[in-house]
Amino acid sequence: MPVKYKITIVGAGNVGATAAHWAASKELGDIVLLDIVEGIPQGKALDLLEAGPVEGFDAHVKGTNDYADTANSDIIVVTAGIARKPGMSRDDLEATNCKIVRSVVEQAAPLSPNAILIVVSNPLDVMAYVAWKASGFPKNRVIGMAGVLDTARYCTFIAQEIGVSVENIQALVLGGHGDSMVPVPSCTTISGIPVSEFISQDKLDTIIERTRKGGAEIVNYLKTGSAYYAPSSSVIQMVEAILKDRKRILPCSAWLEGEYGISDVFCGVPVLLGANGIERVLEIKLTDDEKAALQKSAASVRKSIDNLPF
Ligand code: NAI
Ligand code: 2OP
Repeated sequence: MPVKYKITIVGAGNVGATAAHWAASKELGDIVLLDIVEGIPQGKALDLLEAGPVEGFDAHVKGTNDYADTANSDIIVVTAGIARKPGMSRDDLEATNCKIVRSVVEQAAPLSPNAILIVVSNPLDVMAYVAWKASGFPKNRVIGMAGVLDTARYCTFIAQEIGVSVENIQALVLGGHGDSMVPVPSCTTISGIPVSEFISQDKLDTIIERTRKGGAEIVNYLKTGSAYYAPSSSVIQMVEAILKDRKRILPCSAWLEGEYGISDVFCGVPVLLGANGIERVLEIKLTDDEKAALQKSAASVRKSIDNLPF
């Protein structure tokens, strides 16, 4: 008998509902969409379920305000919280989202003690820490989503600049999900060919800067919220890697204990994602500048964690 997975998505806003959409269309499992606002998760879940006959997917989608419906989930994606508006940094969301993420995880984790938690709420690396503490789960089962998104943005800009398919671009963006994130030129190739063969250093620097500000670029267009198509697609790539035990190497925010000379902080690094969540943190060779930038980025996350009220 094939296994039917249960995926809970907490927060039925832009990222949560769109993640449910991608997950249903890929038939990754049955989906529970939970939100604190009554009616929103029920309405969006029913609407999505009714797309099944048209799109030809058989995923069951349930909207709810009751954590009992999330029991025995295989994956819990946390998107609950407030999003950025123009002029706000991700860090401006910290106090509010800390309370929300903590309360969400304290309610969801005991009902799904074997689940893998994927955190999306911002500021991402700090919220991953809050979720880890609130869940009591082992470090391999609490993962922050940001690097996949930041890398997708970086790849998009490179593909546009060169005029090739996005599928040709392999790259990594590491570090915290903020202005100090670390696109890694030494790991950026176009079908295996170093990016420097295609793009001048000046042009690459412009792309790196645009990537660092990629979230703000969308916020400035939308005005009332932040990006959600690429973020939700990124989180579902991680969900799929775990549920299908694909052993994908993806940049994710992970709890570090000495890797890259960094300790006691969640920070974006390349990890091997499979059925056990983070099965390995990959310590790849970086240039001295890249390693220093990664350590600086981790230090800025550590500072925010130290400011948390617990
Ligand atoms: P949104 O405002 O559209 O949705 C948030 C949802 O959370 C709302 O439906 C709200 O009712 C719900 N919510 C609030 N408190 C709750 C609680 N206690 N329990 C359950 N649900 C609750 O926001 P959006 O655009 O979906 O973004 C969600 C979060 O994800 C934000 O913090 C945003 O900054 C973050 N984000 C992170 C990204 C990343 O790369 N890690 C990328 C995009 C967004
Ligand atoms: C983004 O990068 C807001 O963190 C979110 O789009």
